Amino acid sequence: MKNYHITVLKGDGIGPEIVDEALKVLDAAGEKYGFSAQYDFRLMGGCAIDATGAPLPEDTVDSCKKSDSVLLGAVGGEKWDNLPGDRRPEAGLLGIRSALGLYANLRPAKIFKALKAASPIKESIIGDNLDILVVRELTGGIYFGERGRREIGGEKAAFDTEMYTVPEIQRIARVGFEMAKKRSGRLCSVDKANILESSRLWRETVIAMAKDYPEVELSHMYVDNCAMQLIRKPSQFDVIVTSNMFGDILSDEASMLSGSIGMLASASLAESSLGLYEPIHGSAPDIAGKGVANPLATILSAAMMLRYSFGLGEAADAIENAVGSALETCRTPDIFEEGFRKVSTAQMGGEVIAQLK
Ligand code: IPM
Ligand code: MG
Repeated sequence: MKNYHITVLKGDGIGPEIVDEALKVLDAAGEKYGFSAQYDFRLMGGCAIDATGAPLPEDTVDSCKKSDSVLLGAVGGEKWDNLPGDRRPEAGLLGIRSALGLYANLRPAKIFKALKAASPIKESIIGDNLDILVVRELTGGIYFGERGRREIGGEKAAFDTEMYTVPEIQRIARVGFEMAKKRSGRLCSVDKANILESSRLWRETVIAMAKDYPEVELSHMYVDNCAMQLIRKPSQFDVIVTSNMFGDILSDEASMLSGSIGMLASASLAESSLGLYEPIHGSAPDIAGKGVANPLATILSAAMMLRYSFGLGEAADAIENAVGSALETCRTPDIFEEGFRKVSTAQMGGEVIAQLK
């Protein structure tokens, strides 16, 4: 039986509760589909700062590098908000993305039928098959560019730099083209080429690559327009490929189409088969420890791990279908509607496992 080594970073806030449910679902999927998983628990984020003084201890990075994949809950919280930028929990997240070379972030926004009414957008606009994939560049751009403070005319000033090299644009665009090829064949590259030089290079580079993908219909959109079009007519999108910061913003927006940010999973992939899987929502310190957090995004992230790092598509489909079935009857408070059973974090995990079996 195949045994996978998974480094688990529960993180802060609701992280531990939601990860626990995802691990139970992984174990149940293993029993059914004939694989086992061995977990190595490590610290990252605020919990690592409290225990070691640093958000990303070296042994955490080592464990991730040695493992087959990484499952992450969420990091951050008010408690650490006043630390300098390079010592905040978020610096751990950026550090691990960079240390593992996780340049391609896949964020699917898909609607579960049972949740259509939970979306703040009218059902007539959502349509029947909302299924958008945001491909976000994750190890470059303004997140990693030069930044600093200086004084200008006696006044405080600060700057951050957006920079992309052609190879960085090419490798993320390739992921976008390849994903579009496997899906409905439409790729929308999002930039701000009317203003930013980095976006003009982005667009030129993507256009030059299009000849290698004659089967993909490529379009370009400015990020402000894209933010509007996602709400006006989401069905026009299949795959969106974009830079680190634009992808950060647009994926939060796209998540609301699917009802709740508590539903969206993500995969961050390296050039090897190593991947890091995490929900796109944050650590929600306000509801931590109360047993009310929605574990579905983390469970769906575990399904993405099976699909993208282990090639276990059937098991991944089964988890996604089990989530769909659980939603027919159960709801955590964030997606609660009259007529459904209001359940806790652990009950929702249990319901997914019951459906999986
Ligand atoms: C995300 C988050 C992170 C990001 C934060 C927590 C650093 O918003 O994964 O989208 O900005 O990338
Ligand atoms: Mg974000």
